[in-house]
Amino acid sequence: MSARDLATQLSYLAASVLFIIGLRSLTRPEAARRGMQQAAVGMLLAVCGTLINHAIVDYRWIAAGLVLGALIGYPLGMWVPTTALPQRIAMSLSFGALAATLVGVSEYHHVFHGGEGLIEPGRMAALGFEVLLGSITVTGALVAFGKLQEVIPSRPMTYRGQNFVNLVLFVAAVALFVLVVVDPTQSGAFYGMIGIAALLGLLMVLPIGGADMPVVVALLNSYCGLAASATGFALGNSILIICGALDGASGFLLSMLMSKAMNRSFSNVLFGAFGNAPAATSAAEGTALVARSISAEDAAIQLAYAQRVIIVPGYGMAVAQAQHAVRELAELIEKRGGEVKYAIHPVAGRMPGHMNVLLAEANVPYDRLYDMDEINGEFPQTDVALVIGANDVVNPAARSDPTSPIYGMPILDVDRAKAVIVLKRGMAVGFAGIENALFFAPATSMLFGDAKTSITRLVSEVKSA
Ligand code: TAP
Repeated sequence: MSARDLATQLSYLAASVLFIIGLRSLTRPEAARRGMQQAAVGMLLAVCGTLINHAIVDYRWIAAGLVLGALIGYPLGMWVPTTALPQRIAMSLSFGALAATLVGVSEYHHVFHGGEGLIEPGRMAALGFEVLLGSITVTGALVAFGKLQEVIPSRPMTYRGQNFVNLVLFVAAVALFVLVVVDPTQSGAFYGMIGIAALLGLLMVLPIGGADMPVVVALLNSYCGLAASATGFALGNSILIICGALDGASGFLLSMLMSKAMNRSFSNVLFGAFGNAPAATSAAEGTALVARSISAEDAAIQLAYAQRVIIVPGYGMAVAQAQHAVRELAELIEKRGGEVKYAIHPVAGRMPGHMNVLLAEANVPYDRLYDMDEINGEFPQTDVALVIGANDVVNPAARSDPTSPIYGMPILDVDRAKAVIVLKRGMAVGFAGIENALFFAPATSMLFGDAKTSITRLVSEVKSA
């Protein structure tokens, strides 16, 4: 092994260790930032290790790729707001899968037009697997992006026999895969498989509702990881095998955890056409139920004299970017002798850990954040539950209404608090598209307006209370 190859392998080894340590650090909020830095250093090492590969004879295309990648990546990283992260992730996932697919196509092309002329079945299987999963992910992630960004309708687009059509396409793609492994010279089968897989990705995601896109993106992420791993096997590249396996496993685990937190099975997510929001149900159905609104002055008095307050953040806090004002309000209440805790639902917001990230950014101490299971028992002794832009995750229909689409999803038992103040702009539904009886409950008052504006007003009112 030449000194260059040794340096490459050592950089890959160090990068793999840093990726694993980085992932480990991400499991604790106080170490999460460091975890990202460790992974970034790992990525830098892996890129440098690859750049010194002796097989590279010309750096011009690589330099062009670096410039182009930086031109796309920098604005994506710096300017996309955190509320749009799910669609940003879907888009980069599609890019990543496209890269894996193109590497597979180029490798195949190289074998038959670059002189090798022969490929052993194991390597051909890895190549086939790579382009198959890669193509499904390219189009599937693009549709997920479109739905999350609402470029295409986010409702499930269904038609009769769709599962049968998808099954036929899947079987056809697998048949072509087998054919090309048995006889790799069948380039028609190879490219046909890519086309069918791309169509399958499109048709598999279109019938799934926008509400389930984050789960779909996590699942596609695991496909992309497997595709990258297969690329590693095809090219004999250890870092791709390791990264792909880490990516594949974490994407799969994440999609399972999200489904569990929403009390949904995988098959229900993939074939259940959830997100086909029914019109307003239960609470407001037909009757003229009116939510009680409250002024900022009255809400501030309740908060100023409360002994125990639980803050329940949701997607609306992220939209309003109210986290800094929330921390200020909590500190004021604490200064007046009240106790403030934050209740974190696992799928509050639009991505895993969304609320934790925002509150950490606002320097809310980690030990004030409580998971759903830890805090649910405390609501009955709570004077005020302050719900900030949360809706579905505090919807009691999940506990009590078997006809509700979210029935069975674990929720924060906010309705059991002595008093509830809900901050939102109007009576709009949340992501699941359903009414929320909490807003009409006798103990609930609604403080209407943008969450940041309302909290800023609460802060000044509590100061003068
Ligand atoms: P949602 O149920 O989506 O409700 C958010 C509420 O925030 C809306 O009803 C909206 O009402 C309000 N809002 C929006 N902008 C606001 C602003 N500027 N100021 C004040 N309020 C504002 O949020 P949630 O309770 O966090 O639940 C999350 C949902 O996303 C769940 O259905 C969950 O299953 C789904 N989901 C989450 C994830 C992850 S991993 N987090 C993944 C997949 C799906 P107004 O328009 O009336 O203000």
